[in-house]
Amino acid sequence: MDYSLLAKKYNTPLYVYDFDYIQAQYNKIKKEFQARKSLVCYALKANSNLSLLKFMAELGAGFDCVSIGEVKRALLAGAKNYKIIYSGVGKSDEEIKEALNLDILMINLESDEEMKRVENIAKELGKKARISIRVNPNVDPKTHPYISTGLSKNKFGVSLNKARLMYLYAHKSEFLEPVGVHFHIGSQLTDLTPVIEAARIVSELLRELRALDIDIKFFDIGGGVGIKYENEEEPDLYSYAQGILAALGGQDATIVCEPGRFLVGNAGVFLTKVLYEKINDTKDGSHKRFVIVDGAMNDLIRPSLYEAFHEIKALKDGQKELCDVVGPICESGDFLGKDISLPKLENGDILVVKSAGAYGFSMSSNYNSRNRAAEVALQNGTDRLIRKRESFDDLIKNEKEFI
Ligand code: LLP
Repeated sequence: MDYSLLAKKYNTPLYVYDFDYIQAQYNKIKKEFQARKSLVCYALKANSNLSLLKFMAELGAGFDCVSIGEVKRALLAGAKNYKIIYSGVGKSDEEIKEALNLDILMINLESDEEMKRVENIAKELGKKARISIRVNPNVDPKTHPYISTGLSKNKFGVSLNKARLMYLYAHKSEFLEPVGVHFHIGSQLTDLTPVIEAARIVSELLRELRALDIDIKFFDIGGGVGIKYENEEEPDLYSYAQGILAALGGQDATIVCEPGRFLVGNAGVFLTKVLYEKINDTKDGSHKRFVIVDGAMNDLIRPSLYEAFHEIKALKDGQKELCDVVGPICESGDFLGKDISLPKLENGDILVVKSAGAYGFSMSSNYNSRNRAAEVALQNGTDRLIRKRESFDDLIKNEKEFI
């Protein structure tokens, strides 16, 4: 793909997603579970562009949502309501009401109190809420602490014991119908053995529940499959799927998985333009080289927030030297990469920031009153705009009338 042409055509900063790659990733994961009933529910927090969601829906994907906004996005893009899961540690009454009215596949509960809220609201609406419960299996996913979710000290899910009690309660309730069991222990996992370990633990619970005649149909193993950003080994999907099946030990259930990053992470790049270079003299007489670009932490916050590594490439050759690639935002934490080896660059040169399809645009903001970037899709050798660059008017539209 000629990124400099795309940068010229759509301007920068720009996100570019390869839809053919997304399809290939979707097919890979679907294939590994083909021996069983399975549902791939794309975790749209990774990238919730409507055109991308429409593409996923056409592939047959379901959706894992974490707010009613995400549920509505998925539906608008053509998702089937019976393939939508709504998870999240805090749901407002309005959100619960809407989810019940939209008749989605299941609401994933993360606490006792939430179960009672859902029960009450279902009662008010004269409905029976299909629910699953997120079990926190207390397994260490061995990933960055900010994206680790499966330990008791994390805010997510409930303990096995609590889950048992909640299922018993829900089973007896007139307004709740337990249909699934869920866990998700963390993100960017390059070693999936902790997930298989968690699956074993939760599968035992499934067995117990079924022995009590609680008819759980969906075994939801969450997301978390890692991707290659730098030197990571890509996890082996075959042994992942086989491990999950072995953990289920012959129990018949529809396997639900919730990949986000795996489907879209390496489908995306972020294009940014060099504004200028700058060399700062340091105290010890050495020099520090900065490449200042038009993209910033408001566009791609992963490097600042998690010290995440994203490969950065220039589109030209030349003798390379180390530099920090930084944005125009007034924070020292505003960088896209540190100690990156790049040739001498000048105004207008394009840099390609790789692996930016997941948690890139979806975590972007308007900090420093910067317009959010445009987004482009590549499919069958053609490119098309899927989100306009924001304008100043977009930035102020909710405030203007009050001055
Ligand atoms: N399911 C649940 C319940 C989740 O909480 C998440 C991600 C996923 C599925 C999808 O996980 P994935 O397959 O993408 O690993 N902003 C961070 C990642 C946060 C992940 C939050 N939950 C990052 O940029 O690395």
